[in-house]
Amino acid sequence: MHLRRKLVAGNWKMNGSLGQLAEVSAIAEAARATGGVDVAVCPPFTLLAPALTRAGGITIGAQDCHAAASGPHTGCVSVPMLKEAGARLVICGHSERRADQHETDADVRAKAEAALGGGLVTIICVGESEAERAAGGHLARVEAQLAGSLPDDWEEGELVVAYEPIWAIGTGKVATAVDVAEMHAAIRAALVARYGDRGARVRILYGGSVKAENAAELFAVADVDGALVGGASLTAAQFVPIIEAAAAS
Ligand code: 13P
Repeated sequence: MHLRRKLVAGNWKMNGSLGQLAEVSAIAEAARATGGVDVAVCPPFTLLAPALTRAGGITIGAQDCHAAASGPHTGCVSVPMLKEAGARLVICGHSERRADQHETDADVRAKAEAALGGGLVTIICVGESEAERAAGGHLARVEAQLAGSLPDDWEEGELVVAYEPIWAIGTGKVATAVDVAEMHAAIRAALVARYGDRGARVRILYGGSVKAENAAELFAVADVDGALVGGASLTAAQFVPIIEAAAAS
């Protein structure tokens, strides 16, 4: 993937079926026709291999991985297994997993180290709750998550950060351009402080109720290098206009 070329990634969460993989074919075809943007779809584990057969030039990714390569971890899937299934990207530390599976920053960092060590493009998610923002603690919260969740070592182009304010996920409430600009600038500053020049080349995605109607405004914000899209990534009809908005930005 090109450095800071926009990346539009779809997170299907616990949605999808073999029958819905026609959407992957349609997304891939449109992405090829549009060009200039990196596009990924992250279906559930069970659909990784069949999705790959429909993927054309787009990336198929997973929504989680285990930090270990193998072992007694019932129900978990490792980085080598994901790679064998054809995944080239993985999402680590989504707020739904931080909440439902009680993943800590240290857990997320360990998973991300495994994923980056295995050569997967790794999207590390951070984001504050509504209460944290209301109390004025959103920047400090995200900076703490970055400090705890990001690994020290990674190859150029493979580390990606996604800012997903929890209150904007699946709610239809999208952060304003001003709020996104403030947070993405803070994330960029934290990346540069920690990694130097390399931090300036890490892509920062926005996620949370991204739709065709708001994508262009979000992509126009400085340091928004793409989007992590949930609900609107499930169909080509909704996802393709977001890819096109990224290409036009
Ligand atoms: P929605 O786009 O459905 O709000 O989900 C965002 C998200 O959580 C992507 O990871």
